Amino acid sequence: MVRPPFMNAPGPEPAQMLRGFVDIRKAAPEFLSAMRDQFGPIVQFPIPKPLCYLVSDPNWVDYVLRVNSKNFGKATIQYRTLALVTGFGLLAADTPAWREQRKVVQPAFHHDVISQVVKHSVTATEQVLDNLKAAKSDIVDIDHQMMELALNVVGAALFGADFEAKAKKLISATLSGLDVVVARARTPIFPPRWLPTILNLKLQYANRTLNRAVDELIANAVKNPGANSMVDLLVAELTAGNFTKAQVRNEIVTFIVAGHETVASALSWALHLISENPDIQERIHQEATLVLGARQPEFSDYAKLGYTQAVLNEAMRLYPPAWVLSRSVLADDEIAGIKIKAGSLIVISPWAVHRDQTAWPNPTKFDPTRFLDNSKHAAGAFIPFGLGNRMCIGKDFAMFEGVIALALLARDFGFEPTAQNVIALPAVTVRPKNGLLLKLTRR
Ligand code: HEM
Repeated sequence: MVRPPFMNAPGPEPAQMLRGFVDIRKAAPEFLSAMRDQFGPIVQFPIPKPLCYLVSDPNWVDYVLRVNSKNFGKATIQYRTLALVTGFGLLAADTPAWREQRKVVQPAFHHDVISQVVKHSVTATEQVLDNLKAAKSDIVDIDHQMMELALNVVGAALFGADFEAKAKKLISATLSGLDVVVARARTPIFPPRWLPTILNLKLQYANRTLNRAVDELIANAVKNPGANSMVDLLVAELTAGNFTKAQVRNEIVTFIVAGHETVASALSWALHLISENPDIQERIHQEATLVLGARQPEFSDYAKLGYTQAVLNEAMRLYPPAWVLSRSVLADDEIAGIKIKAGSLIVISPWAVHRDQTAWPNPTKFDPTRFLDNSKHAAGAFIPFGLGNRMCIGKDFAMFEGVIALALLARDFGFEPTAQNVIALPAVTVRPKNGLLLKLTRR
């Protein structure tokens, strides 16, 4: 039993950590949950620099993300790595640059834009429904379909309905840059960026393509200002002198990265869970049929689809797409009775928090009624979109998009599990490893 002298909180010793290394790589969210179960609300990992703590108690999560958020910045390895592709757009920006940025970007998530999101979600879901109707087999990789759907919605919201012609190159370059981010996150030692390794070259190529595509888009939008796509709104800020061209580029790329795989992941897990729970699936089908009949959803339908909202929330409780968040400590602090030095790293895993026995009795049970009507939970107990001032700016975007898509899918199709052993793979988001094969029936 060797406990390094720098450890001042409960946590695994180096030998246990080494033995757990395979588990960490294979199933990091479960590993973090197991650490919380074994060691409690604050766990320290045997890492000397930076000192690293996992915080999982809902009240202390609330403290870090909301109550004392000014003492917890985003200058962490997680966000620095993401910034290789997104630059320091809104998601990766650290205080105080972030505050100004958020003010400028906020109008791009205005009510009018969200009502457009409903339209884009209907169009993209109808495309998926057509694909499913035309499929040669009744077993379909639904995760692949959800990725297409979410990419189409964020693409249309950013660039307008005819985005395909304009933005395909930009989106594929973003995704290719993201592959590098994932590869980097999985490798503890990474060669310096100037070395011409395959991954570094891939990143450079992706960023060059991105910058060229954004230049073209901006030039286009300056010449032909459109109605209210998000790019139009950002370019208006460029023209008004509130943003530089690089900032517009970073926000566009941030929206693509933050706004597509997250929603796809939430939808895939929701479909996986309803396929395993026929009663819940029936209830969501009935709600969709009652509210929508055979017509297309409209903005005002969202409020009437309360059960569908609860299903999506409960799916994100069990499988939070953003499964890990991180913060760097700016000044000495204290969490759960443990002194935390400036410069320490705080890790918060929504996955572990959402499986807290006290906040969520019978935590592994899929039970959407937890989110119906007046049900209450502590602020820090449910954090799929984060909490406090750095909370997801796209929360309404994602909820409207996801609920509309889920209602249409469950109205028109029945979903059953197949023999596939569905495994959660944590990368940028938590996704079903090898896709999600479901058996479909037309309803
Ligand atoms: C189910 C879907 C989504 C989930 C689960 C999700 C989750 C999150 C979380 C947890 C954060 C906070 C990160 C932290 O505190 O470190 C965040 C921030 C952010 N998200 Fe989302 N997100 C989703 C959809 C979207 C969409 C659709 C967009 C944009 C189109 C978006 C854009 C952003 C941005 C720009 C930030 C940074 C906000 C800031 O720091 O001011 N997200 N998201």
